[in-house]
Amino acid sequence: MIDNETTRLLASRTSVRAFQDKGIDEEIVEQLKTLTQRAPSAGNMQYWSVIEVTDPDRRKTLAHLWDNQEMIAKAPLVWIFLADLEKWYDHFRLSGCQGLTDRSAAYGWGNTHLALQDALIAAQNAVVAAQALGLGSCYVGDCIENTEQMTELLKLPRHAIIATALIFGWPKGQNGPRNLSPRCPNDFIFMKDTYQKRTFEELEEANKEKEDLLRRSGRLKALGADNIAQYYYLRKHTSAFMAEMNRSAGIFMKACAEEPQ
Ligand SMILES: Cc1cc2nc3c(=O)[nH]c(=O)nc-3n(C[C@H](O)[C@H](O)[C@H](O)COP(=O)(O)O)c2cc1C
Repeated sequence: MIDNETTRLLASRTSVRAFQDKGIDEEIVEQLKTLTQRAPSAGNMQYWSVIEVTDPDRRKTLAHLWDNQEMIAKAPLVWIFLADLEKWYDHFRLSGCQGLTDRSAAYGWGNTHLALQDALIAAQNAVVAAQALGLGSCYVGDCIENTEQMTELLKLPRHAIIATALIFGWPKGQNGPRNLSPRCPNDFIFMKDTYQKRTFEELEEANKEKEDLLRRSGRLKALGADNIAQYYYLRKHTSAFMAEMNRSAGIFMKACAEEPQ
C-alpha cells in the first residue's frame, strides 16, 4: 500500500456540516478557485461555471429553498456549480458559427450530459482542494429543487442549469480524525467487463455495515423500517423532497437540451 500525504488526504475526507463562525480569506478562496479549475473537462471547453454566494440573506433564502437545511445559512461560502452551455452558445452565435455547416448535432441531451459531467468533476476537485486547504465541505443535492425560484434568484438563462452545490467553511470542533462513514466492499461497486446483476443476498451483504449503523443509531426504528432498503425507500425515494427534485430537475433538464430560440 502506498502511503503519502495525498492518499491520506483522500482516505480521511468526510462531509463537514458544522462550521466556525469565521469567514474565509479572499486569498484562500482564490486558491480554491485556481485548484478547482485544474479539473479535467471535455475538450477543455469547461462547460461549467460557479455562482458564489456569500451574502448572508441570500444564503438564508437558499437554506429555505434547499429543504430548510440550516447549515447552508451558517456556512461562510456557498458555490453553486452550473452545467453552463449558455456561454458557449453565446460565443458560437457571436462568432458567426451559424451557417458554417449543415450538420445539426449542436443541441440536445449529449451536450447537456457532458456539461453536467464537467460541472460535477470540477465540484469534486473543489472538495479535495478544500480539504487540502484545511476547509470542510458538504454537497447539497437539494439545490436542484424549486427551479422557478432558483432561476429567478440567480437570473439563470435556459442553458445554464444547476449541477450541484457545495458549502464550505472552517470545520467546528476538529480535535483528531472524524469518523468515516461506511462504504460497500470494492467488489460490489467495481464490476468486470459487463454489468453484474446482484442477488438479494449480495445486496444485503454489501450494505450490512451501513444498515448496522442505521440500526444502532435508532434511525431505522424511527422511520418504521426493518432494513436499509426500506429505510432509503421511505427516507429518500418516496419523500416529499424527492417528488420536488423529480419535478424541478425534469423541467430544467428538458429546457436545457432544447435549441436556443
Ligand atoms: C450528490 C450529493 C448530495 C448530497 N446532499 C446532501 C444534502 O443535501 N445534505 C447533507 O447534509 N449532505 C448531503 N450530501 C452528503 C452525503 O450525505 C455524504 O457524502 C454521505 O453521507 C457520505 O458521508 P461522507 O461524505 O462524510 O463520507 C450529499 C452528497 C452528495 C454526493
